[in-house]
Amino acid sequence: MYQPSESSPTSASVDLAALAQNVAHVRRLAPHANILAVVKANAYGHGALEITQTLQRLAVHRFGVATIDEGLALRQAGVQDAILVMGATVPAQFAELVAHRLTPVLYRADLIPAFAAHIRSGSSPYPVHVKVETGMGRLGVSPHEVLDVLQRTEFQAALRLEGLMTHLADADNHGNDHTKLQLARFQSTLDHLRQRGLAVPLVHAANSAGIIRYPNSLYSLVRPGIMLYGYHTLSHDIEAPALQPILTWKTSIAHLHRIQTGDSVSYNRTFIASRPSHIAVLPIGYADGYNRLLSNRGRVLIGGRRVPVIGRVCMDMTLVDVTDIPGVTIGQEVILIGQQGSERITAADLAAWQQTIPYEILCAIGPRVPRRYLPLGSPAGETSRER
Ligand SMILES: Cc1ncc(COP(=O)(O)O)c(C=O)c1O
Repeated sequence: MYQPSESSPTSASVDLAALAQNVAHVRRLAPHANILAVVKANAYGHGALEITQTLQRLAVHRFGVATIDEGLALRQAGVQDAILVMGATVPAQFAELVAHRLTPVLYRADLIPAFAAHIRSGSSPYPVHVKVETGMGRLGVSPHEVLDVLQRTEFQAALRLEGLMTHLADADNHGNDHTKLQLARFQSTLDHLRQRGLAVPLVHAANSAGIIRYPNSLYSLVRPGIMLYGYHTLSHDIEAPALQPILTWKTSIAHLHRIQTGDSVSYNRTFIASRPSHIAVLPIGYADGYNRLLSNRGRVLIGGRRVPVIGRVCMDMTLVDVTDIPGVTIGQEVILIGQQGSERITAADLAAWQQTIPYEILCAIGPRVPRRYLPLGSPAGETSRER
């Protein structure tokens, strides 16, 4: 595992007290549901272990990852709580999943016997979640297949249905027809199972947008991801809680130089100076997750002012024009995501500049960038609600 140095000029600092506030928003919106915190993709770039451990202190005791490897990494670091593997899994990894007591999401009929084959006969039934495909068009058993799947013999001995879930495709969008349809399909599947006497201990459908917008998606468990990290992708005219971005990404100026009118900077000469210019070189590039699409588009904060990225973002370096910023020095702080003075750049801004979503910006912050953690403090007022 790559270990960046503590003295690295670049870092991502994660405010754990802000994470606690975002968790409080989830609890306010879903007061009767337990939380399964989505910590896949290194907790959306924030550091899976530290985020998980902090959430445990905040009385969250269920976690969602995408891959078995992500689950194993948490187990190996000592996380004992329930870990749901929500992504596409292959039977070749089922033995490892069972050995580490991860919980699988089974999303196709043939996975039931394939998974049950790994449970020793005589051992207590292994908890699994079954995913229903209601309109995401990705993974899941179709609603009319679910009863057959759950009536298979594997569910009489080897397996125990712990959870039934679906995933919303469009809950952050303006229109709500598709989400209503998904939730109606899910509810009628659930009703049908209950009429047939099947117990479903945990029911879950809501991602962050579901939690914020669809009270009827909450059920007994909610699966927030992006809102824990302080973002959503709802449009501005939709009412949303005041989430707090928890990550600040900063670096410092590595080098300064002056160029003349007509001089160019960086690969392929995409920036030609139209005036004598003062150029700062930042020790950060696309290998760190600062996307090349930010070339000649991005902005950073220096001295409390917005400063343009000029020329192509390189693998390890990015150039910015500091001509209008007085007194700039080597070593001066540069904010890529975060606040400086009264100015602020968010992952949503970077996403807009490179036509993507804040999720991708955060996940892309690479292993060369050390994560530092601002402490949670005492989680006063947090009561142990789960477990
Ligand atoms: C199955 C599942 N549930 C929940 C989430 C969390 O979604 P969000 O980050 O939008 O809250 C994800 C993330 O993509 C997911 O794949």
